[in-house]
Amino acid sequence: MRESELIQEAFKAMKNAYAPYSNFHVGACVKCKDGTLFYGANIENASYGATNCGERSAIFAAYSNGYRKQDIEAIAIVSDGHRIAGPCGICRQVLSELLEEDTPIILGVKDETKTMTIKELLPFSFGLEDLK
Ligand code: THU
Repeated sequence: MRESELIQEAFKAMKNAYAPYSNFHVGACVKCKDGTLFYGANIENASYGATNCGERSAIFAAYSNGYRKQDIEAIAIVSDGHRIAGPCGICRQVLSELLEEDTPIILGVKDETKTMTIKELLPFSFGLEDLK
């Protein structure tokens, strides 16, 4: 599966976004090395703070099904915004623990894509190692 195909899967996930407050829709797709795909979308809440972002929904789905960072090949994250949206700060923190540092994070919007790693998105991050 090419990067563009994974982006298409993330756009499929975006259709399930529940975003009546922001009207900003996000979809994500985690591709595992065995070919399994996990989908996620942003799910908002009237409390606002209980909202779950699309990329966290997808990575939590993968982990909830027993997959771990070494099993993950790539993640695609898309939105319906007017430019490529970088993951929010909370998602960067989560991705820094749940992805390997060089796992491709493919960001997309309309027909534009950009591939980055969590090492680039969140350098000098706080993590499990700091608590040892
Ligand atoms: N959102 C995501 O799903 N991922 C991000 O990394 C940025 C923000 C969602 C949260 C909320 O539902 C909407 O986009 C507007 O912030």
